[in-house]
Amino acid sequence: MHNKKFYITTPIYYPSDKLHIGHSYTTVACDALARFKRMQGYDVMFLTGTDEHGQKIQDKAAAKGVTPQQYVDDIVAGIQDLWKLMNISHDRFVRTTDPYHVETVQKIFKQLYEQGDIYKGCYKGHYCKPCESFWTESQLKEGKCPDCGGDVYEAEEEAYFFRTGKYAERLLKLYNDVPDFIQPESRRNEMIAFINQGLQDTCVSRTSVKWGIPVDFDTNHTVYVWVDALSNYISALGYGNDAYSDYDKYWPADLHMVGKEILRFHTIIWPAMLMALELPLPSRVFGHGWLLLDGGKMSKSKGNVVDPVVLCNRYGTDAIRYFLLREIPFGNDGNFSNEALISRINADLANDLGNLLSRTVSMAEKYFGGTLPVAADRTEGEFDADMVAVIKAMPENVSSCMEKLLIPQALAEIFKGIQRANKDIDETAPWVLAKDEANRPRLAGVLYNLCETLRFAATLLQPFLPDTAPRMAAQLGLNTANMGFDSLTYGTPESYTVAKGEVLFPRIDTEKELAELEAMHQAAQPAAPSEPVAPVGEPIEHLPEISFDDFCKVELRVAKVMDCEPVKESKKLLLLKLFDGERERTILSGIAKWYTPADLIGKNVGVVINLAPRPMLKGKYVSEGMVMAADMPDGGASVVFFPDDVLPGSAIH
Ligand code: MSP
Repeated sequence: MHNKKFYITTPIYYPSDKLHIGHSYTTVACDALARFKRMQGYDVMFLTGTDEHGQKIQDKAAAKGVTPQQYVDDIVAGIQDLWKLMNISHDRFVRTTDPYHVETVQKIFKQLYEQGDIYKGCYKGHYCKPCESFWTESQLKEGKCPDCGGDVYEAEEEAYFFRTGKYAERLLKLYNDVPDFIQPESRRNEMIAFINQGLQDTCVSRTSVKWGIPVDFDTNHTVYVWVDALSNYISALGYGNDAYSDYDKYWPADLHMVGKEILRFHTIIWPAMLMALELPLPSRVFGHGWLLLDGGKMSKSKGNVVDPVVLCNRYGTDAIRYFLLREIPFGNDGNFSNEALISRINADLANDLGNLLSRTVSMAEKYFGGTLPVAADRTEGEFDADMVAVIKAMPENVSSCMEKLLIPQALAEIFKGIQRANKDIDETAPWVLAKDEANRPRLAGVLYNLCETLRFAATLLQPFLPDTAPRMAAQLGLNTANMGFDSLTYGTPESYTVAKGEVLFPRIDTEKELAELEAMHQAAQPAAPSEPVAPVGEPIEHLPEISFDDFCKVELRVAKVMDCEPVKESKKLLLLKLFDGERERTILSGIAKWYTPADLIGKNVGVVINLAPRPMLKGKYVSEGMVMAADMPDGGASVVFFPDDVLPGSAIH
């Protein structure tokens, strides 16, 4: 045991609406990391909170006829309830409307201004009058306001700027000197490329947004977004205020966990601000991927967000925590679907974990009345050495994955032990051993090793499944107070006295459950307007007939859209990055009028793979293939999608 500290933070969430299951992912991941470190004896500070200022919240409050403060108070109460429901063990919850945070932000802003790192300038952008909002070129939708769809005009506003550009060299040096600072590695390269393009200063105040922290020496201005939001990581420790006094103890942060889209702010603006303030820098910033919904982005506007409260109430918090932590690979996107969720619950939790516990406890009760004899033969059997080696390796393997933030792999290591134990039951066939009295020491040894696996699993699962682990411990006759990481030495309990309890995770009838979910979904949908029947039988202008061999020359394959963005130089084109089963390829597709990137990211599409690469837009891009789409009667295009379970690279015939 040691008293090393570990300071971990989530992003602070916008309380503009209820949070969805994607937001829960970040917090659950941080919770598992925080709990794991606590279990290893670290002095942990786990911070989360809410980012409460800005135009959007001001507008939402106005629409509801309440003050912005009333609006956020209501949503924040819901967020705090959600974290209770999801068993989040944060030590502190910061709100950017808390007076101590406001005090810190005003002090930081003033100091940066007085030392010349913040200066007054002019913000240029596209202004929408009814929405009183500035938009950048890329935020506009077909040249119109993305909120109301109305006209925008070029306008200027007096604003303060932070000299981010001044810190470009120091930031590059930081990434070089501390290679772990940005993770995963691929995102570090993205940030380096971003800085190398030329780093602009950052606009840090607004006169048009009233719901914000006033710049105290120039009260026409409010502090704009990032100086306010990012400062939470130190204000919540008492930097620049007297509300707390643990800044010296916990700062710098050991890990800022953030979604990939806000990594830039955390690895450029935030360290630049800290450099300007001459404060130590965080050790690591991890940019995780998104949880997609049926392959697409979750968005309130698409009405496809999944409510974590509904999911936790239906399947249990630990099942949802497990799914989130197991399903999103390190740094990449993961997919949420009802099928995937049910399959994880059934395969991993009900079958592997639940069955091992119930079979072990039942056999210990049946053959030994619940208490295993002490002098059992534990290591002599044919399969024991392997089984014991797997048990002994679990703590180190799990801990090393957690150190590298490989959370799904850490869980996989625990389940490797569970699966090995299930296999051991098949190999040793305790019911056969039980037939001969002479085998009793051996039988007790087999059951002891199963109990040991379950003890190791229960101990290591505590950070991930905080409700389930104690339920396992109770059936194994263990006291959770003695289940720290250091307790994981093979052979320490002399014996086990077990007692059967409730089934950990009841198996879900997949077909019935999916039908029920579909019915619930349908009931919640507004009635669909009846579709006009498409005309059939129109004459079609055909191409000349080709041979089968000719057809075989066209290589059609499924590819997964990993990333997609509009192309500045063309309103028609989208720039897609696709994984074709072998490598990433770039394709420019003329579907921007009918699809947004969010419609495509995560989806499987059909691609003509062996089309000669074609330079486009004056050679700025090279398109390596063609996305298959059907012509629509209105002149639009309908992309051919393949289901999620089709593997990228699969041939299309
Ligand atoms: N307020 C800023 C963060 C300021 S931190 C100083 C913000 N808030 S947010 O509410 O929009 O997003 C908070 C976090 O939730 C982000 O890290 C974001 O990536 C994450 N997620 C939102 N949707 C998500 C998924 N569908 N999947 C995974 N994480 C997602 O940005």
